[in-house]
Amino acid sequence: MILLTGGNGQVARWLAHLAPDDVWTVSREDLDITDRGAVLDLVTELKPTTVINAAAHTAVDRAEDEPDGAMAINRDGAAHVAEAAATSGARLLHISTDYVFGEPTILEEPLAVDHPTVPQSVYGITKLAGEHAVREACPEATIVRTAWVYTGPSREWLGLSGDDFVTTMTRLEKSHETLTVVDDQMGSPTFARDLAVGILEADRTDTARGRTVHAAGAGRATWCDLARAVFEEIGADPERVKPCSTADFPRAAPRPAFSVLSSTEWAACGLAPLQDWREAVSAAIILAPPTDSVNSAS
Ligand SMILES: NC(=O)c1ccc[n+]([C@@H]2O[C@H](COP(=O)([O-])OP(=O)(O)OC[C@H]3O[C@@H](n4cnc5c(N)ncnc54)[C@H](OP(=O)(O)O)[C@@H]3O)[C@@H](O)[C@H]2O)c1
Repeated sequence: MILLTGGNGQVARWLAHLAPDDVWTVSREDLDITDRGAVLDLVTELKPTTVINAAAHTAVDRAEDEPDGAMAINRDGAAHVAEAAATSGARLLHISTDYVFGEPTILEEPLAVDHPTVPQSVYGITKLAGEHAVREACPEATIVRTAWVYTGPSREWLGLSGDDFVTTMTRLEKSHETLTVVDDQMGSPTFARDLAVGILEADRTDTARGRTVHAAGAGRATWCDLARAVFEEIGADPERVKPCSTADFPRAAPRPAFSVLSSTEWAACGLAPLQDWREAVSAAIILAPPTDSVNSAS
């Protein structure tokens, strides 16, 4: 049985949807991972074969004002889950982020798993601390770094509140003649469904045990590229999206200029690469309106 934390999040919702029947999903209300005793008790009681930790403080800008809260969840909470998995002998898959990197310029090569981690934001710092805590408490854990995760129009169908970049662009297209979007940050846009498929494959094969791996959409894009792709897919003129620089659009948390993730380690584990980011945007938009079966629509 798979125990899945952070059950109301977008990655967790896809995991729960795509996982085999035997998955026990807990939201923050059911299990607050900052509560060590509660985490240990639940894992001891359920005896899962796998724990997937999809719970995190993911509000990148808000974390700048809440460093203690972010650390409590992203480091300490992750450590509790790792301790519980190690104690019970469960396999652990823990999700981390490209924001553990801090590259200030665009690079030629995607970032390997052992590329130096220099997080620039509180979110990135706390997620990196979480990686270290997980590795220490549960050396056999698989740490899956991903990036720029979106769900798109099927959020509503999955029962997800809030927005992601793709849904935001879809909404803004209706109300704005032109949009300016950052074009000097380059990364790996990732459809949450594809990530969930990859994580479940990593669980099934167990070839990434004890490793840190990158699982993200193939290829590379800027936020502006991603916004233009969304416009194309919904039948709008992509030229209505205008490029701007990070300096033109200041945010509370600094972001890496380059965080394209290399899938070399993932492939070395025999795991199927996630589809190209551009095809994934198309798939995410085509999935809406709701269908009975995700698989039949893909
Ligand atoms: N989204 C991205 O672009 C992105 C990029 C790279 C990596 N990641 C990583 O991918 C993983 C999944 O992210 P996501 O996009 O699915 O984020 P998400 O939609 O924000 O989901 C995270 C979930 O964690 C829950 N949570 C927060 N604090 C908790 C706690 N103390 N105990 C239990 N649950 C708690 C949240 O609950 P509430 O709903 O109550 O807030 C939320 O449902 C995270 O590890 C994140 O760092 C995400």
